[in-house]
Amino acid sequence: VVTYLIVAAVAYLLGSIPFGYILVRLFRNEDIRAKGSGNIGATNVVRSGAKGLGALTFLLDVCKGYLAVFLCGHLAAISSLTAIPAGKAEALAALCVILGHIYTVWLGFKGGKGVATALGVFLALALWPALAAMGIFIIVFALSRYVSLGSILAAIAFPVFAFLLPHAPRDPWLSAVMVIAPLIVIAKHHQNIGRLLQGREYRFGKSDKTSG
Ligand code: G3P
Repeated sequence: VVTYLIVAAVAYLLGSIPFGYILVRLFRNEDIRAKGSGNIGATNVVRSGAKGLGALTFLLDVCKGYLAVFLCGHLAAISSLTAIPAGKAEALAALCVILGHIYTVWLGFKGGKGVATALGVFLALALWPALAAMGIFIIVFALSRYVSLGSILAAIAFPVFAFLLPHAPRDPWLSAVMVIAPLIVIAKHHQNIGRLLQGREYRFGKSDKTSG
C-alpha cells in the first residue's frame, strides 16, 4: 500500500506543476486564466500571444506525463521490499499525473485539460498508438484550425489505435487507463464542445471574430 501511495503522490505532484501558469506569470506577469479560454494549457498560452512560452508549456507538460510513468514504473521495479507490478504502478502513475494536471492543488484544483500530459503518458506507455493519435490531431487541426476538435478526435482515436496496433501494452490496468484517461480529457472539453456546436469555438489562423 505504501508503494502505491508513493507512486500516486509522486505522479500527482509532478502533474500538478502548472507550467503554463508559471511561465506566463514569470515572463509576462500575467494570469493565463484571465485570457482566452481561461485554460492553463499550451493552446491558450499561444493564443495569449506568447508562442515561445506556449511551445515550452507543451514540451514541459508532455515531459511531466512521460516522466511520471517512466519514474513510477522504475520505482515499482526497484522497490524490492514492497514491489508492485510495473503495469499497475504505471497505470496508477498515468492516471494520477493527468489528474494532477487537471486538478492542480496549487491553483485551487482548477488546472488544464490534460491533452499534452496525456500525450506524454501515452508516448511512454504506447508509443505507436500515441504517435498515430498525434497524427489525427495534426490532420484535424490543419483542416479545421480548431485545437480542441483535434484534441477530442485524437482522444477518441487513441484507444482504438491502442487496441488495433501491435506492441501496445496488453496489461488490463494499462488497457483500462488507455480508455479512462481519454474519456477524462474529452469530458474536460465540455465547454469547447458547447462552443464548437454553437460555432463559437476559438479558431487559429482565421481572420474571423473567433480567431485564437
Ligand atoms: O489542450 C487543450 C485544447 O484542446 C483546447 O484548449 O484553450 O482552446 O480550451 P483551449
